[in-house]
Amino acid sequence: MNNAVECRSLTRSFKGNAKQQAIIALDNIDLDVREGELFGLLGPNGAGKTTLIKILATLLLPSSGKVTVLGYDVEREAHKIRPRINMVSGGEFSGYGLLTVRENLWMFSQFYGIPTRIAKQRIDELLHDFELADKADAKVRTISTGQRQRMNVVRGFVTDPDLIFLDEPTLGLDVNSSRTIRDYIRRWVREQNGKTALITTHYMMEAEELCDRVAIIDRGRILACDSPC
Ligand SMILES: Nc1ncnc2c1ncn2[C@@H]1O[C@H](COP(=O)(O)OP(=O)(O)O)[C@@H](O)[C@H]1O
Ligand SMILES: [Mg+2]
Repeated sequence: MNNAVECRSLTRSFKGNAKQQAIIALDNIDLDVREGELFGLLGPNGAGKTTLIKILATLLLPSSGKVTVLGYDVEREAHKIRPRINMVSGGEFSGYGLLTVRENLWMFSQFYGIPTRIAKQRIDELLHDFELADKADAKVRTISTGQRQRMNVVRGFVTDPDLIFLDEPTLGLDVNSSRTIRDYIRRWVREQNGKTALITTHYMMEAEELCDRVAIIDRGRILACDSPC
């Protein structure tokens, strides 16, 4: 089986302030995520999860090391990676408040060039799966935080990516919204051949309950990587 993600000796540092030393957000990381798996990255705030996701999503470059996503180099072949991935971040304020839920999703599907008929059908199915069908025509600024976050997750799936990055998708959500999101992610990976999901979380229970394999990350280092017990 191929690896959807491969990191070899990946290091990423950020310049500190004038008097500060550089911050090493990722410190010599080796990591493989297999095609078709639901992989969890578990770690506390500041561990490096978002930095790693941004590098894999080709939004940030490594300082050193080699990283491939879907077999392509993130530095040289980002254009081949981008159409096949998508990314969702929890707790972000995304989407246009003046547009309806359906219009927002439609707009994002158009950024990826999804044909109209397919996009419409996918949006309807996803709104149903995420219990948002009755909010389809509501303006985004009028819906609740949980509903908005579910819409953000729908945005990730509406492009039918081969690999999806979910950065703390259930952050701060109520039990029901979190469960709806987790159930969908699990089904999406199980029911389709070869689709891969990488989810970050700081909830141990979420990682254990949801993922095929979990890596623990702390202070930029991978401490352990295995199936949850
Ligand atoms: N743009 C940046 N500039 C400086 N430091 C950053 C930047 N982004 C992240 N960091 C630092 O890198 C470390 C890892 O951050 P992050 O990847 O956001 O962790 P997590 O997502 O696990 O909470 C933290 O110490 C954070 O302060
Ligand atoms: Mg983060």
